[in-house]
Amino acid sequence: MHPTSPSGVFLGLSMPANRFNGFTDLGIGIGLRVPHYDHILSKKPTVDWFEVISENYMVDAGRPLAILDQILEQYQVVQHGVSMYFGSTDPMSREHLKRLKCLVRRTNTPFLSDHLCWGSVDGTYTHDLLPMPYTFAAAKNTAERIKHVQDFCEVPVIVENVSSYAEFHISEMSEWEFLSEVAERADCGILLDVNNIYVSSMNHSFNPMDYVNGVPHERVGQIHLAGHSKYERYILDTHDHAVIDPVWKLYAHAIKKCGPTATLLEWDAKIPSFEEVHSEALKARKYLDAVRKAALGGKAIQPAAV
Ligand SMILES: [Fe+2]
Repeated sequence: MHPTSPSGVFLGLSMPANRFNGFTDLGIGIGLRVPHYDHILSKKPTVDWFEVISENYMVDAGRPLAILDQILEQYQVVQHGVSMYFGSTDPMSREHLKRLKCLVRRTNTPFLSDHLCWGSVDGTYTHDLLPMPYTFAAAKNTAERIKHVQDFCEVPVIVENVSSYAEFHISEMSEWEFLSEVAERADCGILLDVNNIYVSSMNHSFNPMDYVNGVPHERVGQIHLAGHSKYERYILDTHDHAVIDPVWKLYAHAIKKCGPTATLLEWDAKIPSFEEVHSEALKARKYLDAVRKAALGGKAIQPAAV
């Protein structure tokens, strides 16, 4: 019998550790959220890793940092950002980057992630992850800013596709071609959010499989899963539900292409108990195991429907 990691996966076949995810083999994690602090600190559940929102901890002192330090004593933590706005054209704030780098040193995060979006104009911040025009000029600007962050913070950066509700007529390529262009130009990794791909595919009528097939798989350092809300005319990326079957199917396809990649479930609203969130994340096990067994030369096991 194979020894298993906390997420129950075979230790003999690790996640793809590449230079984009700091050569780490993370497993299955969940986002660290405030309602779960007490449970995690008192019960110390076994979790492969936590993703933390950098901006929640870029402070000098106080309860958030004290909690984070306690989490760091026991768990692998990876930083995820929501305000870098790689696609904006405003100068990047040196003060913000300094605070980010300070947190990088505190958490020892193997890599940083943030979104392929813009969100500020002339120093005014929208606090939204706005969709990009998919142009070569925008790709060049975005890649330069990603490279700057990588160089300044001295950790690899992986860039995440966002869900979107509008498109630009001036776009010169598909979203996945734009993501690929940015990643190649910046020589950075990709955080592939398969729920965001699904949401955007429904809102903009493209085949989500084309998206997954179209990105450079060797650059994917992490995958996000989440739930969303369906309305009459569009889908909203609310992160307040369990993952739906079509997104699990997309996930299965993504890890077939990319290998059994570090996986994280995001649940940000109507947050249920820690156990419920973690067990939802751990549903990824069977898909990862199917890919691993196939890679071992055995017959690929088709995961049952969730
Ligand atoms: Fe995400």
